[in-house]
Amino acid sequence: MNKDKSSKLNTLLQSKLDRPVVLLGMMGAGKSRLGKKLAEQLNLPFHDADHEIEAAADMTIPEIFEKHGEAAFRDGEKRVIARLLDNGPQILALGGGAFMNEETRAEIHKKGISVWLDVELDELVERVNRKPGKRPLLAGVDAKAKLSELLAERWPVYEQADIRATLSRADHSKAVKQIKQCLKDYLVAQDNQAEN
Ligand code: S3P
Repeated sequence: MNKDKSSKLNTLLQSKLDRPVVLLGMMGAGKSRLGKKLAEQLNLPFHDADHEIEAAADMTIPEIFEKHGEAAFRDGEKRVIARLLDNGPQILALGGGAFMNEETRAEIHKKGISVWLDVELDELVERVNRKPGKRPLLAGVDAKAKLSELLAERWPVYEQADIRATLSRADHSKAVKQIKQCLKDYLVAQDNQAEN
């Protein structure tokens, strides 16, 4: 896409986005990395639910899991996301398990536009292996086997997202463009539906 087309797309999205855009998907899908770039390009605030949980607890995620357990982390995650969703238009990156919570899904459905960043298993494995120790669910286990198990459990729920962006082994800027294009198609379809 040339520069003119891309700035036209940014302008269109900026004028139409009146709600949070919520990025979900597996660990390693690039929700934070791509979300930051997307926010920059659309001139929107960026929030990362995991970072907000860490800030609220003044602990890293592995420390929260270790000291308080996964259930306490999930509880904090639900509360933090509910709070962030009230901040209006923004790009919000979720942790991989957040969308599995029914209340969180309902809140997102009511207040935002959800986008599943669907990335192939091998690429997820490659990415998570670059940051060992960051993700407690992968500590001491075979990352590929665990991700594959989680993916099987989660994809029927991820599928409930408003948008599925299937990202091939694209570079960052291509992936961000793909997400923007998906958002545009979704928003235009919604406008058309409202008119008919
Ligand atoms: C988790 C994903 C992590 C983090 C926590 C649990 C999950 O976030 O929220 O370790 O259940 O998939 P990322 O998806 O950003 O790695």
